[in-house]
Amino acid sequence: MPKHFITTQGWTRDELQTLIDEACALRLAPIQPLLAGKTVALLFFNPSLRTRTSFEVGAWQLGGHAVVLEPGKAAWPIAFDDGARMDGIEEEHVREVARVLSRYCDIIAVRCFPKFVDWTIDRQDRVVRAFARHATVPVINMETIEHPCQELAHIMALQQRLGGLQGRKYVLTWTYHPKPLNTAVANSAAMIATKFGMDVTLLCPSEDYRLDERYMQAAADNAHASGGSFRVSHDINASYDGAEIVYAKSWGALPYFGRWEEEKPIRDAHRHFIVDEAKMARTAKAVFSHCLPARRNIKATDAVMDAPTSLVVDEAENRLHVQKALLAHLVGAHAAPLLEAVH
Ligand code: CP
Repeated sequence: MPKHFITTQGWTRDELQTLIDEACALRLAPIQPLLAGKTVALLFFNPSLRTRTSFEVGAWQLGGHAVVLEPGKAAWPIAFDDGARMDGIEEEHVREVARVLSRYCDIIAVRCFPKFVDWTIDRQDRVVRAFARHATVPVINMETIEHPCQELAHIMALQQRLGGLQGRKYVLTWTYHPKPLNTAVANSAAMIATKFGMDVTLLCPSEDYRLDERYMQAAADNAHASGGSFRVSHDINASYDGAEIVYAKSWGALPYFGRWEEEKPIRDAHRHFIVDEAKMARTAKAVFSHCLPARRNIKATDAVMDAPTSLVVDEAENRLHVQKALLAHLVGAHAAPLLEAVH
């Protein structure tokens, strides 16, 4: 059974830190033959700018090759249900797709967002888990209902700017967006910030915007294990006061999942959650970040996005470095010796 990278919850803090350390080494020495002769299949069921570019460029920089597939567009639509009678639009089943790609490629990476109709189904993360079940090579989650590659890039950016993260005051703030968005990055931020020992506040408009209990519990468990903390607040000023890190993301309210017209007036009433200069002035000169893409002057003001304390572009750059470290690790080629070479 290959080791997959579907959730960071299956990886220890030390293992994740090793990947980040290797990413730092690869940042300084980017062209290395760690993936020579290897191929990676990148399956995109949804759009991307950063993820696709950083994986493709990263594979090339390591001497490997990435194949981009878009099922339902330039690749056959895929069925996932076991026992499906395939008389719909799907032309093949994940059981064949995962095993065939495993014969051609050394790693399979999958991006598949929720369908936004029924959270009880979306929370099962069926697509990436089906690939993990049927593939005979490692599977990487490129964002489903979690975004573990973003987590690594985020922690790397924070460590680059702040050094040690233990005990840092971290605010994960909901922001307004005209559409209900995926909870993946919020789930991931809550898990990774607590895993790295920070004092984490999930700031959101109301209890309706709590994350799925699986992720609330994971964050609480991580905080307990790491010596950090995890709480929910609906008080903007109290949350920003003394914060050292502000991470912004919008997401749809789970109780209204699939009934988005009912949620819209609630969301629309909370446009003031925008990250602006007045809120940032309450912090302890906090750094700001967002996974991108971000709508300017909706989620965060121009001044916040462009401030010297903004890490948004550094975090995006780090996607390249951490994913290269991950790809190398999953094929058994470690960048660690490079770390010694560059010091
Ligand atoms: N942050 C992120 O995953 O960006 P893309 O959606 O552009 O890949």
